[in-house]
Amino acid sequence: MSESIFRKDATAQGVAKQRLIETLAKPEERIINDPYADRFVLGASFIKFMGHRLNVWLAQKLVPGFHEHLISRTRFIDDLVKKNSASGVEQYVILGAGYDSRAHRLELPSSLRIFEVDQPEVQARKRSKLPEELSNSENMTYVAVDFTHQSLTEQLMNAGFDQNKSTVFTLEGVSQYITKEALSSTIKEVAALTQRASSIFFISYVSDLFDKNPEACFGKGYPNAEKRAKLIMYGSAKVGEPWISFYGAEEIENVLSQNGYSVKENVTLKDLNSRYFAPVGRALSENQLLQLEHFVMAESQN
Ligand SMILES: C[S@@+](CC[C@H](N)C(=O)[O-])C[C@H]1O[C@@H](n2cnc3c(N)ncnc32)[C@H](O)[C@@H]1O
Repeated sequence: MSESIFRKDATAQGVAKQRLIETLAKPEERIINDPYADRFVLGASFIKFMGHRLNVWLAQKLVPGFHEHLISRTRFIDDLVKKNSASGVEQYVILGAGYDSRAHRLELPSSLRIFEVDQPEVQARKRSKLPEELSNSENMTYVAVDFTHQSLTEQLMNAGFDQNKSTVFTLEGVSQYITKEALSSTIKEVAALTQRASSIFFISYVSDLFDKNPEACFGKGYPNAEKRAKLIMYGSAKVGEPWISFYGAEEIENVLSQNGYSVKENVTLKDLNSRYFAPVGRALSENQLLQLEHFVMAESQN
């Protein structure tokens, strides 16, 4: 596939870039480790040459907290998946997996069956960049689905999803790119698929305040909050993946509860700053907090 006509992976690359930057930190200071991220990022050699500190400094100049927000989101899910797979969850479905390599970079039990769902073009590029020998690849299946017009159920079932097994689903950094109808039908399909077994659903969503009152999504004293919010929106639209859907906490809770899920945790970078960054001496100050995205963990009631 020619890189020049490929237009669907800019944001997936953007997140992989932040994981690459974090991986360059000293092992005792880093929050996540992704040894595969560099394979997907254009200009990875230059990023590696600059190193962790300089890249993070630059990110702080452009949009303070942006790097930490994405890294804390990844770490939150890493912890969730590790904890649940260690306590016996049998399947893991990564919805909108992009260039995430959780299936290979975490030491997950070999009994865990993993399904990576994304658009076919993104998966094709991902597969062409990954090494042939990868840990856990025999337990992992790629499932091509476009949430806006394809049935997740049909594709997952064809790929061997087992409705009798307990499952974790994660939808990381995707809800802002798809319509509210597509999100709600995806959650509905997930609920129907998991009626016979317990399941956990993780979703990240962008607060509707970001659209209406951006200042409310940043820590006190955050410099030029409104300008930064516009910059983020402009950046996504410019690469052809505009943010189109924003949610309130109640709205997300309602969509989840209508489908049998109850919210157990709803956090932002503010909460994860003290959980992950403070212990390694990298706590952000109030005026660097970017809280536009919420990270929600919900459990099924069955
Ligand atoms: C910002 S990236 C996040 C990727 C990954 N979850 C991560 O955090 O690294 C958004 C992902 O959603 C996927 N995506 C966007 N719209 C989609 C759709 N309609 N159907 C399936 N996947 C979609 C993109 O291909 C991309 O991989």
